[in-house]
Amino acid sequence: MIYLNNSATSYPKPQNVVEAVSNYLTTVPVNPSRSGFEVQGEDAPTACRQKLAAFFKADDPNRLIFTSGATESLNMAIFGLTPAEGHIITTAIEHTSVLRPLKALEKEAGLELTIVESDADGCVNPIDIAAHIQTSTKAIVVNHCSNVTGQVLDIKSIAGIAHEHGLVLIVDGSQSAGNIPIDITGAGIDIFAFTGHKSLYGMPGVGGVYIREGLALKPLKVGGTGVKSELLSQPTELPLYYESGTHNLPGIVSLAAGIDFIQDTGLEQINRTKHNHLKRLTEGLHDIPEVTIYGSDDFDNRCAVFCFNMEGISPPDLGYILEGSFGIIARAGLHCAPLIHKAMGAYPQGSVRVSPSYFTTTAEIDFFIKAIQEISANIQHYENY
Ligand SMILES: Cc1ncc(COP(=O)(O)O)c(C=O)c1O
Repeated sequence: MIYLNNSATSYPKPQNVVEAVSNYLTTVPVNPSRSGFEVQGEDAPTACRQKLAAFFKADDPNRLIFTSGATESLNMAIFGLTPAEGHIITTAIEHTSVLRPLKALEKEAGLELTIVESDADGCVNPIDIAAHIQTSTKAIVVNHCSNVTGQVLDIKSIAGIAHEHGLVLIVDGSQSAGNIPIDITGAGIDIFAFTGHKSLYGMPGVGGVYIREGLALKPLKVGGTGVKSELLSQPTELPLYYESGTHNLPGIVSLAAGIDFIQDTGLEQINRTKHNHLKRLTEGLHDIPEVTIYGSDDFDNRCAVFCFNMEGISPPDLGYILEGSFGIIARAGLHCAPLIHKAMGAYPQGSVRVSPSYFTTTAEIDFFIKAIQEISANIQHYENY
């Protein structure tokens, strides 16, 4: 099997991540503030929070809240902004984790929503965002990096525009975290949502959200925090305010180990390897007449996500052929991002997505290219597959 679906979830996980989780699961559990004995040294959430704060250049580790992933983080950010009504600007490159909560507020709470168009590569011009600001606008929600074209948006410029108008900037960092350097404080990001199981190499079911000082969201859940049990209302200090219930400790341990792996390997090295794969994919498929490649040629502003289509074969059929005949796991469909597919001219059928990881080899990329060449050379056979 050749696994080329790392934008969905990364595989394989680095060895140190596997070992950290295994150690956690085979050692007497320490549940922060809930165990029967004193925690020796730092507890796992505190240690991971510090690593994340350093990695994302966040000013205060306690403002990094653990969640089950970007979906929960984005729900927390979007539903937590009060009052629910007012005007929010978002973009056409968003994932349904952004679009659906916003659409729910539009329907149920009278939120006014503007979705700014992108070009066919998934690029959104900050000036187009600025043009939609009105007096009732309270926030801008943007995807840092498209999970379809890999396009990276100019977050610093968008943050400048947001702050000039006193708006809250919510950034979906699901695809950027672990792929490109992130400087939450330097960029002026107010809320940064991320997920742990993609390019941060953690397990599925863990992620987080950074909430800058001075911003208070309505928590998605309240309940047990392990401490301050004399209080019948939610403790207000961070991170307790937002973190009720037992943490996903194996997930948090895996995330901390994932950050260690990235720091030890070097983000630049990881990025370079993935970009080499992206370039090889683009060059390898470029001259195949049936193939349409999506995304910009400006690789400097892209993460290694590669979407394409083949004339004569639908994306689901192509995904099925790649897996069934060649043992290649790619992803076919709309990738939870319907609106960018409209901009690409690939709606409603979607596209086939290939997303290599740091662990993908050049031989695997070449095998994939050969598979597409073979399908193209025998297109009649595969059309009736
Ligand atoms: C851009 C983007 N946003 C949000 C998400 C949701 O992440 P999770 O399913 O880990 O909550 C994803 C994952 O596919 C994504 O690619």
